[in-house]
Amino acid sequence: MNRIILGRTGLEVSVLGLGAGGDSRLGAGRIAEADSLRLVHAAIERGVSFIDTAEAYGTEALLGKALREVPRERVVLSTKKTTRLDAPVRPEDVVSSLHASLERLGTDHVDVYHLHGVLPHHYADLRERIVPVLLRLREQGKIRFLGITEAFAADPSHAMLEQALRDDFWDVVMVGFNLLNQSARTSVFPLTRAKNVGTLIMFAVRRALSRPERLRELLADLAERGKVSPELAAEGLDGLLEGEDISSLPDAAYRFCRDEPGAHVILSGTSSVAHLLENARSIDAPPLAARARERLIEAFARVDDVSGH
Ligand SMILES: NC(=O)c1ccc[n+]([C@@H]2O[C@H](COP(=O)([O-])OP(=O)(O)OC[C@H]3O[C@@H](n4cnc5c(N)ncnc54)[C@H](OP(=O)(O)O)[C@@H]3O)[C@@H](O)[C@H]2O)c1
Repeated sequence: MNRIILGRTGLEVSVLGLGAGGDSRLGAGRIAEADSLRLVHAAIERGVSFIDTAEAYGTEALLGKALREVPRERVVLSTKKTTRLDAPVRPEDVVSSLHASLERLGTDHVDVYHLHGVLPHHYADLRERIVPVLLRLREQGKIRFLGITEAFAADPSHAMLEQALRDDFWDVVMVGFNLLNQSARTSVFPLTRAKNVGTLIMFAVRRALSRPERLRELLADLAERGKVSPELAAEGLDGLLEGEDISSLPDAAYRFCRDEPGAHVILSGTSSVAHLLENARSIDAPPLAARARERLIEAFARVDDVSGH
């Protein structure tokens, strides 16, 4: 499995990260627990060393169980504190949430602890009241690195991360990026690259790039709003990927993200060992041809308001 240094954390991690959130969430309770545990073990055996979860996903305890027999240093663990609550998050809630996450995960520290799905208008308040708590928890050794994740569906043009990246607290950010909405290339990656912030890519495939009917609907909507050409909406992505040695659209989608300068870990959320192994092959596959990449960049250059969900 290809590996990479996660920016200024200095951690060496697999380029493919296992996401324990999203629609598939380690099976999302739709598969037997033994199969969810097998999925985590299959990922680790295949070389995945970065795993992302969150208190909101309900998958921390399952991961804790799966990781019980795995040496702690084999996996870089990332989890998150929910921030989109009815009332503002209180500092004491962050401390108790982290302790509960550590308990469920069966560890005494997380490698990356994020504020989860932060909306642009919540950032200033979290920065003032919550970041000092995170820094204290880091001093106590319970968190190694601080992270922040955007709410990509609600904030597809990255207004929150543009604010957050002016500050110097964040060692890692999680950003929505895929071949349909590539706006992070101009608004986020120049900032993360300048500060050597680790970047985790979410939504590489999501619904639109794994379900043909959802892609057709999305392209029709984008064409109607003048964001992509009517020809693209009529023909789909086949023409843009013509001549490419790809096994599927998810294959092209994960490789497109992996090839982006500034992208470190590409997260994949799946409920299927077969998909996980396919995605690992994608991450290890050669780059897409420069011509195809240019066509994809050009075709979606005006899109910055959809997530691909
Ligand atoms: N704001 C946040 O902090 C935030 C928000 C969203 C996600 N995340 C993190 O990012 C991770 C990744 O996000 P995501 O769940 O959107 O992941 P994703 O990898 O973009 O998309 C996952 C979807 O694609 C399907 N899929 C995966 N591999 C496939 C393949 N080879 N062929 C066909 N379909 C395939 C999965 O279905 P199958 O189960 O059938 O494989 C699943 O429905 C999450 O797990 C979570 O850790 C964070």
